[in-house]
Amino acid sequence: MMRSHYCGQLNESLDGQEVTLCGWVHRRRDHGGVIFLDIRDREGMAQVVFDPDRADTFATADRVRSEYVVKLTGRVRLRPAGAVNPNMASGAIEVLGYELSVLNEAETPPFPLNEYSDVGEETRLRYRFIDLRRPEMADKLRLRSRITSSIRGYLDENGFLDVETPILTRATPEGARDYLVPSRTHPGNFFALPQSPQLFKQLLMVAGFDRYYQIAKCFRDEDLRADRQPEFTQIDIETSFLEESDIMGLTEGMIRKLFKEVLGVEFGEFPHLTYAEAMRRYGSDKPDLRIALELVDVEDQLKAVEFKVFSGPANDPQCRVAALRVPGGASMPRSKIDEYTKFVGIYGARGLAYIKVNDRAKGVEGLQSPIVKNIPEANLNAILDRVGAVDGDIVFFGADKAKVVSEALGALRVRLGHDLELLTGQWAPLWVIDFPMFEESDEGGFAALHHPFTAPKCTAAELEANPGAALSRAYDMVLNGTELGGGSIRIHRKDMQQAVFRVLGIEAAEQEEKFGFLLDALKFGAPPHGGLAFGLDRLVMLMTGAQSIREVIAFPKTQSAADVMTQAPGAVDAKALRELHIRLREQTKAE
Ligand code: AMO
Ligand code: AMP
Repeated sequence: MMRSHYCGQLNESLDGQEVTLCGWVHRRRDHGGVIFLDIRDREGMAQVVFDPDRADTFATADRVRSEYVVKLTGRVRLRPAGAVNPNMASGAIEVLGYELSVLNEAETPPFPLNEYSDVGEETRLRYRFIDLRRPEMADKLRLRSRITSSIRGYLDENGFLDVETPILTRATPEGARDYLVPSRTHPGNFFALPQSPQLFKQLLMVAGFDRYYQIAKCFRDEDLRADRQPEFTQIDIETSFLEESDIMGLTEGMIRKLFKEVLGVEFGEFPHLTYAEAMRRYGSDKPDLRIALELVDVEDQLKAVEFKVFSGPANDPQCRVAALRVPGGASMPRSKIDEYTKFVGIYGARGLAYIKVNDRAKGVEGLQSPIVKNIPEANLNAILDRVGAVDGDIVFFGADKAKVVSEALGALRVRLGHDLELLTGQWAPLWVIDFPMFEESDEGGFAALHHPFTAPKCTAAELEANPGAALSRAYDMVLNGTELGGGSIRIHRKDMQQAVFRVLGIEAAEQEEKFGFLLDALKFGAPPHGGLAFGLDRLVMLMTGAQSIREVIAFPKTQSAADVMTQAPGAVDAKALRELHIRLREQTKAE
């Protein structure tokens, strides 16, 4: 071992002791005759002083530059009272250095590590090995490691077995596009990288493993956002002979222990909210409960009004008319309202009607709004009473297809919560339950809301008679408006699985071709089973307060799903393509 201590471990208790440190030169300062080096390693920073008494050592200290790798020996001493640095773990001491060797030199880094620099993400990712030296980046990865360690500990204690599942496999439908890998030995055939280990973990239950977990890589070729990567990690869990309440209890316990151990935060019991209630009150199936604003349905008051924008949707069962009261919002300038109107437009809303409540005692005169003239005063009052409007509030309205109104006002609710600083508390975990089995797809058919292996709450006959009304035995864990994880009780009977496939328009031949192995497994003694998967990257993002999951992944992909450091994906030579039986299409001008 070359070092005796990590820099960040040094403190007053080592006063007078000799230490050997290895690390990078973070900063070098020349203070008229004495040289200060801040040495950095994984655990933190230490200040080392070199004075000219030892000419050789001093000359070396004079020569080193930022990011040189050095080894040094010296004696720990207390800093003089005025020189204590409370922002540094080792800020009460310094090391008087008497030996210093340069283990490796470094060119000037592409961006400085010892001061703030407004460097673009592309450059940071291109030189990720330097970016990760920054203490704030290293801290996030260290926390990530503590998180997986806590989770493994909990699952091990609770009888879960860690089992690996294949990466080269067949498509697992989780709703995204597959990454495909051409086979050399089977011309014209492709493996798919797993979108999740879903079917394998179910097969492990059929095999009798009872409790499985895996920290598993998943691959999804989908449009990227701040909380999505093409390659991400799940904490994947499956159990047999447990009900949904057991599974939610077990995994809630895991998250509760994790937050206590790693952040010192204690959660109470997580509230349960049905999907229907979440949509009605928050316009979202992953509501941020830190924000106290709520959507309120008001169609009953607007069915008979002259104003078609409201009466149309109010009389259409596919539509929704909802109000969102914002306390103190009446002072909002017109330009802000225009900005919010544009914002809800992203979600398809065709307008954003509003009422500013200036003085309710004055009746209609006390309201400022482009729509009050169109609505009878009795209805206006009923609406304002229902939303609890008081002087100084603004009330926004959405009237459209139910999905548009929920999404638009749901997103506006979150935006207003942040803009107006209406967040109450730091953490708001909950479970969302009773999801519908299916959503109607744009082509008219049905698509699975979770995945096609989710068990319904009804019989197969009821399911096929009215798929749109069926609820599933699925549950999602939501934290601060982010879907942390989701899962369900699975189908363990072949006839039920086939009924779901039929609803999804997957006929017998295709069922056999794509899912023959699953249907086989369900024939040979499949136990009742269920589980869920957490998004590890999202969990770490929330726990570290990072703005994007790219900040908590050591080597993430860019927004365009590329690795700018290794330059992947890259071209391959003609020979490799020939072996894979692949001929590239000519790039035509039109493409
Ligand atoms: P689901 O598709 O909901 O369920 O994924 C589970 C969790 O994984 C995270 N996640 C992602 N994180 C980063 N980038 C992505 N592209 C991405 N996609 C999903 C989310 C999500 O909640 N097999 C089922 C689980 C089950 O039923 O047991 C599944 O994969 O946090
Ligand atoms: P208009 O009659 O189109 O000028 O609209 C009057 C007010 O209603 C404006 O404030 C619009 O932003 C708003 N508005 C128009 N369509 C909708 C809608 N579908 N939902 C909510 N508000 C709307």
